[in-house]
Amino acid sequence: MTILVTGGAGFIGSNFVLDWFKSSDEPIVNLDALTYAGNLANLAALQGDARHVFVKGDIGDRALVDSLLAAHRPRACLHFAAESHVDRSIHGPGAFMKTNVEGTFTLLEAARAYWGGLQPDAKAGFRFHHVSTDEVYGSLKPDAPAFTETHPYEPNSPYSASKAASDHLVRAWHHTYGLPVVTTNCSNNYGPYHFPEKLIPLMIVNALAGKPLPIYGDGQQVRDWLFVNDHCSAIRAVLAGGRLGETYNIGGWNEKTNHEIVHRVCALLDELRPSAAGPHTRLITHVTDRPGHDRRYAIDARKIERELGWRPAETFETGIRKTVQWYLDHADWVADVQSGAYRAWVDKQYG
Ligand code: NAD
Ligand code: DAU
Repeated sequence: MTILVTGGAGFIGSNFVLDWFKSSDEPIVNLDALTYAGNLANLAALQGDARHVFVKGDIGDRALVDSLLAAHRPRACLHFAAESHVDRSIHGPGAFMKTNVEGTFTLLEAARAYWGGLQPDAKAGFRFHHVSTDEVYGSLKPDAPAFTETHPYEPNSPYSASKAASDHLVRAWHHTYGLPVVTTNCSNNYGPYHFPEKLIPLMIVNALAGKPLPIYGDGQQVRDWLFVNDHCSAIRAVLAGGRLGETYNIGGWNEKTNHEIVHRVCALLDELRPSAAGPHTRLITHVTDRPGHDRRYAIDARKIERELGWRPAETFETGIRKTVQWYLDHADWVADVQSGAYRAWVDKQYG
């Protein structure tokens, strides 16, 4: 038995791969294009481990995907690969359409061809697990109930529109061709190996460097934060027991404003790495808001709990403390990812 993982060198994908081998010896074939967000250093602990086969390549390369499926005969495909940063999608949506829409289409077609040729038992057991986001549902009013799986799709950014399109393709491949799919829509993750273009790691690395902490607009936007290992355990639960053709929302029951998040990160740094210049909150600056900025996301995660018994293991307090400590302990990783290309992005976005 083997599983094919796409995007397994990114933030969530690499955490998933590392987590998987803590409880399983089932091999993983990891297909990742190693874009700016992919980083083999995340997987350094698996060097020389025969259970992990890394392949550098694009999910949009049909011949490559066909050859991997034929050679490794996976029982499941877990599809993490994507362009994932909303701000980058505003500057340049093309890559998001290419990978998130066309790439998912190519992967679905390859999976359909492979699955169609399997023997009945293997065919019945095969799964295509599509990893998606709560952003496809759009923005919630302050007192509106959290997103359930039947909430209308109202994507507002090029990123979320591209993810919504991919969700629709996955749904259609099940409905039309019978491909055995499951889709998970998860809220904001945080934790180790998070690329410092996203809110929490950006605030940690900037604060450590004594640089400004840029909060968009009034900082009252709300996100529902989930520690990344809890996302990984939810994906394993859905892969093992999710009903075919269903979607499952995954969230942390943990709504916080960006303002609260940044203040908590600053307080933890004041405790763990105090600065002689004073409290880290001195670095907070309010900058121009993100165009089309969604005001609030919140996940109703009752379906996955009711059907599969999954709940997050971490509270925000335990998760954010582990995360800040991880960044303090991994200064080399932080320095490595802040390459020339990263600096060019920071200049473009923050001026
Ligand atoms: P990430 O940007 O950190 O990693 C994406 C990975 O995909 C990288 O390793 C990159 O090299 C790879 N990749 C990109 N284009 C590729 C291509 N064409 N072919 C092969 N590989 C390619 O993203 P992430 O935060 O780890 O997110 C993973 C998945 O989870 C995405 O589908 C994202 O939409 C979804 N998601 C993310 C969050 C979050 O908070 N980060 C929350 C919910 C859902
Ligand atoms: O909700 C799930 C989504 O969460 C995933 O699908 C995306 O892949 C992931 O990137 C994340 O999207 P967000 O846009 O919510 O995450 P980000 O970390 O970019 O921003 C979180 C909030 O912080 C958002 O309201 C914008 C704000 N922000 C972000 C940055 C980078 C700032 O105020 N300042 C910043 O510099």
